[in-house]
Amino acid sequence: MHPHIQFKPAVNELHLLDQRLLPLTEDWFVCRNMADIITALKEMVIRGAPAIGVTAAYGCCIAAGTIDPNSPSWQAELDAQLTELAQARPTAVNLTWAVTLMRQTWQDHPEMDLKALRTAWITQAVAMHRHDEDVNREMGRHGAALLRDGDTVMTHCNAGALATGAYGTALGVIRAAVESGKNIAVLANETRPFLQGARLTAYELAQDHIPVTVCCDNAVGLLMTKGKVQAVVVGADRVAANGDAANKIGTYTVAVLAKRHGVPFYVAVPFSTIDFATPSGAEIPIEERTPREVTHIQDRRISPESVPVLNFAFDVTPAELITALITEKGVIKPSDLRQYAST
Ligand code: MRU
Repeated sequence: MHPHIQFKPAVNELHLLDQRLLPLTEDWFVCRNMADIITALKEMVIRGAPAIGVTAAYGCCIAAGTIDPNSPSWQAELDAQLTELAQARPTAVNLTWAVTLMRQTWQDHPEMDLKALRTAWITQAVAMHRHDEDVNREMGRHGAALLRDGDTVMTHCNAGALATGAYGTALGVIRAAVESGKNIAVLANETRPFLQGARLTAYELAQDHIPVTVCCDNAVGLLMTKGKVQAVVVGADRVAANGDAANKIGTYTVAVLAKRHGVPFYVAVPFSTIDFATPSGAEIPIEERTPREVTHIQDRRISPESVPVLNFAFDVTPAELITALITEKGVIKPSDLRQYAST
């Protein structure tokens, strides 16, 4: 896929393929300051945990390029912008992970002026972006071995190139299996209300000529009853120390059904998404988004004005329902995850 996150340091811009408009329109959202970056994150111009992390890293560079280096308060201004950035979305831990790493560089070099800090951050952000693609390819290699030639794999939401720096986590596993010569078909759950599955997963896989079929979220039980799913592979926004995994709303339902039907349920997740500081899924903050995503389809209202809406964006799949975590360090049973806490 064409790189969907493009940083232009010479003009201090971050160009993001606008995921709100896909698949019908390919247009770019240009971020020139921290307000633009935060808008892009909150309104889901860009989304998906690792992509949020990479965008945040570039966002720090953009912020450093907009503040007056001669201002006596540049440190305070930058600090305030980074604090606001880290709060843009609560569930995907890659956001705070990336901002913390960028802050660490600043703390380690208090002697740097703003120009030097920006230069160091650009190197760091580009490296983070490249590293994300590398770990996705590594996860792909580990995960591909779990899929058999001829399997149909169900996925939920979009954990593809668009949700990462490149290549994808769950879709990276599928891509790697296909690249190794296996015939794999994909069932993409549509993923109400933002439709990441119907719009983004279907778009990416169709571009790569990987057979993909879109299903309504509420068809999962029937499809499993009919034996149409041999494995489920999803991504995650945060995995707690005990292996509980937060992912797009509806993932838990898919996992319960997979258990009931004896279908293996895999979570493909880089270590940047594993949060050993969060003991279990109960402590993972769950984002609630605007009711408008549920009450409207594009600009058309579909539910009565007076009726309230619940729009939780994520749910937590308990570790006991997860067959294995597919990581860049190998395939790990959730119960063994704590052994990796200090690696
Ligand atoms: O609200 P979103 O679209 O940011 O949610 C994204 C997901 O839930 C993805 O499955 C998750 O971030 C994994 S992305 C590799």
